[in-house]
Amino acid sequence: MSKKVALITGGSQGIGKAIAERLVKDGFAVSLVATNKEKLQKVADEINNNGGEALPIVADVADRDEVFAAVEKTVNHFGEFNVIVNNAGLGPTTPIDTITPEQFEKVYGVNVAGVLWGIQAAHKAFKDLGHGGKIINATSQAGVVGNPNLALYSGTKFAIRGITQVVAQDLATEGITVNAFAPGIVKTPMMYDIAHQVGKNAGKSDEWGMQTFAKNIAMKRLSEPEDVANVVSFLAGPDSNYVTGQTIIVDGGMQFH
Ligand SMILES: NC(=O)c1ccc[n+]([C@@H]2O[C@H](COP(=O)([O-])OP(=O)(O)OC[C@H]3O[C@@H](n4cnc5c(N)ncnc54)[C@H](O)[C@@H]3O)[C@@H](O)[C@H]2O)c1
Repeated sequence: MSKKVALITGGSQGIGKAIAERLVKDGFAVSLVATNKEKLQKVADEINNNGGEALPIVADVADRDEVFAAVEKTVNHFGEFNVIVNNAGLGPTTPIDTITPEQFEKVYGVNVAGVLWGIQAAHKAFKDLGHGGKIINATSQAGVVGNPNLALYSGTKFAIRGITQVVAQDLATEGITVNAFAPGIVKTPMMYDIAHQVGKNAGKSDEWGMQTFAKNIAMKRLSEPEDVANVVSFLAGPDSNYVTGQTIIVDGGMQFH
């Protein structure tokens, strides 16, 4: 069987990095898309030095042309393309009265348009290659139930679940499945930034800020990025072939839908 190929946006750190490492273990060659060149190169080097195959690509997912170019580069480099993981995202805390038009454009540009462009570019590549594939989108527990102070973020993540349901139906007869994963509170740079803000506001440490989130989790532990990567591995592999349009919540027991 020829090698399967996956592109992961936001693959330079956090959840995207864990997904890349897991998919490499599952036998995929991966291309990693992010904006930070140095971090991206470091993750790619680690994978390549450990027997895997990784191609780093600097691109802004909010830019449609850059996303199409990233998918094209992946196909040209590996000769195949099977899975896109639209994982890149921004998670600012935005009390309702503070939101500006610029912030709206930026967050919706990355979190929503970035996923749409990823879906379009992957669809084109699957058609050109003459086979189906798997599209996997990052939403959040905050995209299942609105979280306070996250009007922008929660809105974008609700949108991702809607887009996932629609595109799953639009592309089902082409052998393409479209699903989403909804993490809870994951130990990543994004979450540490939020915890830092929460701790600072209360005059406490970052760790204190982080632990305030754990009390809402049935399992009473924060998520490791690998907890999320395990679910993405299922969605990227053959065991999920009869699953489409779904959001799998992976939050240790926060939202029960
Ligand atoms: N950390 C959590 O607790 C949590 C919870 C629920 C959902 N999520 C979602 O999971 C995904 C990954 O989150 P994370 O915590 O690993 O985030 P992170 O901030 O640690 O990493 C984000 C990644 O996205 C990339 N990125 C950001 N803007 C980009 C752009 N315009 N173009 C290309 N790449 C860009 C960054 O370079 C980085 O690689 C996000 O969609 C996030 O909303 C995270």
